[in-house]
Amino acid sequence: MVMTDMLRITAQHLGDAEALPFQSYRDPEYFDVEQREIFGSDWVFVCTDADLPSAGDYHALVIADEPLVVIRGKNGELRALSNVCRHRGAVMLSGSGNANKVVCPYHAWTYSEEGALSGVPHRGDVQVDKEAHCLRRFKLETWFGLVFVSLNDNAPPLAPRFRGLEKYFSNFRVGSFRHASELEVQPWQTNWKLPMENFVEGYHFFAVHRDTVEPAAPTRDCFYVEGHADWSITGGSQLEQPATFKDWIMRKPSEVEYLSICLPPNFVCNLYEGYMTWARVLPTGPTTCEIATGYCSAVSHPVSEELEAFSARIFAEDREICESVQKGVSSRRVQGGQLVELERAVVDFHQYLGKRLFNEDHSRPFRTEHAVRFDGTRTEDGPSMSRTGT
Ligand code: FES
Ligand SMILES: [Fe+2]
Repeated sequence: MVMTDMLRITAQHLGDAEALPFQSYRDPEYFDVEQREIFGSDWVFVCTDADLPSAGDYHALVIADEPLVVIRGKNGELRALSNVCRHRGAVMLSGSGNANKVVCPYHAWTYSEEGALSGVPHRGDVQVDKEAHCLRRFKLETWFGLVFVSLNDNAPPLAPRFRGLEKYFSNFRVGSFRHASELEVQPWQTNWKLPMENFVEGYHFFAVHRDTVEPAAPTRDCFYVEGHADWSITGGSQLEQPATFKDWIMRKPSEVEYLSICLPPNFVCNLYEGYMTWARVLPTGPTTCEIATGYCSAVSHPVSEELEAFSARIFAEDREICESVQKGVSSRRVQGGQLVELERAVVDFHQYLGKRLFNEDHSRPFRTEHAVRFDGTRTEDGPSMSRTGT
């Protein structure tokens, strides 16, 4: 039943588009299908290049039940290796850190950062074939400093899929964002699709973030830029702190625009002049997920405690609403309803799901006048996007 509803709903377009069947947010059998067809076979975002700047820097994560570690080698190359020991299966590294070799915590078999088995302590007279016990390696690609891995050895290259997105990333100079803050990871009690849907729409700002986001970046100024099943871009206006004393006296805040980009299945970011905030969503069960967040910028400057507390508050508001929706979608007697204009990027995300699950692409690329401003080339002093209200 859930598959029949998914097939119908993921083919819809704005106007007719509905919320996903509630069962898709909780059903274990349906969850297995997503793990296989989405996280087990598509490209999945891991972190940014800036999060792993030095040789030996690593980040461990689990994708579709597969423990992995992305680690930078001595030659500077990033590799995605299995994080499962080839001896008796212990998971070896956790979180983020730096290691010039991978040592299993169980019996201390040791692997190089290339995944070669280099040491087997106390092996007695038994010869261990080192070639036969290397760590499994997975596909990895970096695009504009974003690191993706795929468990699927036949995953097609990423660049053609992101065609058309380059101008947005180069406009905000994302390639020059070399300074990263520490990556933070939080478990949420929601199906992974709820935060993804939440992060791509500004429709909820005025209600969920009434005292935080809304005064600075109001719902009424949110807009759709361009997108389809494989990626979508939305944006909004943001009131900045007055830049000068004169502005402050004149009470004339300047207004800048930011972009929100979604690269399904699991990456969303906000692009601002000089920096980017991002979130990575990974399922950990039918009704649970893990959210990692990061920040990277062109120049290194410490994030103030005040700003950190403010972001944490916004994040807590999102978490509370998503976890509340998870309780709502446990209903057996009610289904969701129609999506509105400000949820166009949610419709794109649904069409992505349809593409992966049913191999049918129903998406129609859509552009608004906001996209036109990016068609020119980038100026040398920053984004060509116009500043308004100054
Ligand atoms: S399981 Fe890793 S060394 Fe034994
Ligand atoms: Fe939010």
